[in-house]
Amino acid sequence: MGKHIKIFDTTLRDGEQSPGCSMNLQEKIQMAKQLELLKVDVIEAGFAIASQGDFNSVKEIAKTVKNCTVASLARALPKDIDCAWEAVKYAKRPRIHTFIATSDIHMKYKLKMKPEEVLENAVNMVKYAKRYCEDIEFSAEDATRSNPKFLARLFEEVIKAGATVINIPDTVGYTTPDEFYDFIKTIKENTKNIHKAEISVHCHNDLGMAVANTLAAAKAGATQFECTINGIGERAGNAALEEIVMAMHTRKDILDLYCNVDTTQIMRSSKLLSTITGVHVQPNKAIVGNNAFAHESGIHQHGVLEERSTYEIMTPQSIGLSENKMVLGKHSGKHAFEDRLKTLGYHLSEEELMKAFEQFKELADKKKVVYDDDIEVIITRNAIENPQ
Ligand code: KIV
Ligand code: ZN
Repeated sequence: MGKHIKIFDTTLRDGEQSPGCSMNLQEKIQMAKQLELLKVDVIEAGFAIASQGDFNSVKEIAKTVKNCTVASLARALPKDIDCAWEAVKYAKRPRIHTFIATSDIHMKYKLKMKPEEVLENAVNMVKYAKRYCEDIEFSAEDATRSNPKFLARLFEEVIKAGATVINIPDTVGYTTPDEFYDFIKTIKENTKNIHKAEISVHCHNDLGMAVANTLAAAKAGATQFECTINGIGERAGNAALEEIVMAMHTRKDILDLYCNVDTTQIMRSSKLLSTITGVHVQPNKAIVGNNAFAHESGIHQHGVLEERSTYEIMTPQSIGLSENKMVLGKHSGKHAFEDRLKTLGYHLSEEELMKAFEQFKELADKKKVVYDDDIEVIITRNAIENPQ
């Protein structure tokens, strides 16, 4: 069966912090319902104190969602935690997610606090949140640029104070898979009571390694992955949920991880988010890009038509698409052309086929993509010129 990983979706919180991705109340509720269908374990519904709109969204999502834990983010401040609880308390399974930065850079320049003050504050705020609910996640912002010994001491204390989940964010997308693995190992070795909390990771994609770092963390003992649909999020975004989940699904043989996500809801979730935000994914985006299951070259098309596993490592159906796509262009061969003709209902003689194929190739040299309408024109024109 492998190791079970909990999927913590933060599309509605960290994802929404992506430029152009803000959502209104109704849109957030719709997205939250889709995340429930996708079967994520935790929905981070927002940052309740950030605005009245965010507060209302967290509250309504908490009331609506029945099968996932619903979390609200809160800085390590009493007023944030009070507000998070006021919004999230309606959830069947509420979680308060509180955080404070722990790297020297953040402590010195942003918080203007000494490490000991940060530690004391973290402990006090976890205790404060614990008065409200059982499930408390604590995040050490900019963890990967923090002193691991200090972090371990801080984690030890917040676990004693009642934190149930310890989150290790790579806030600025700075780490690499090997380094992150070693970092988490060091934290584990130096935190006596680490087994009393769940280890979570939260990776940003500034160097394009968010998914790789997330998966490397599992090897070191992480059991919760934080991610967003389409990888939206601050700057270059967060680890993409669809990539993490399909990597676990497709490479179970080496990763040996599984989660509860219904992969057939992935495409629907991706499309819904793009429709709501108006932010579309790039065509070559892994898993959900328009070209992720499209084949253009003749060699690939021939291979896939004979046996799909020649060039497809997962099925389009597994993410909720009905079919793969054969894009007809200048690299396409006769097999794919003939296959498309059959789909369109044409059964040509060998001579007719050769003529149409030549005309198709001529057209493909001039156009990026040859559409079904173009093929219809070729066949119809030939039929008119050479009536049977
Ligand atoms: O990237 C980050 O550090 C965060 C925390 C608030 C978890 O989003
Ligand atoms: Zn983040």
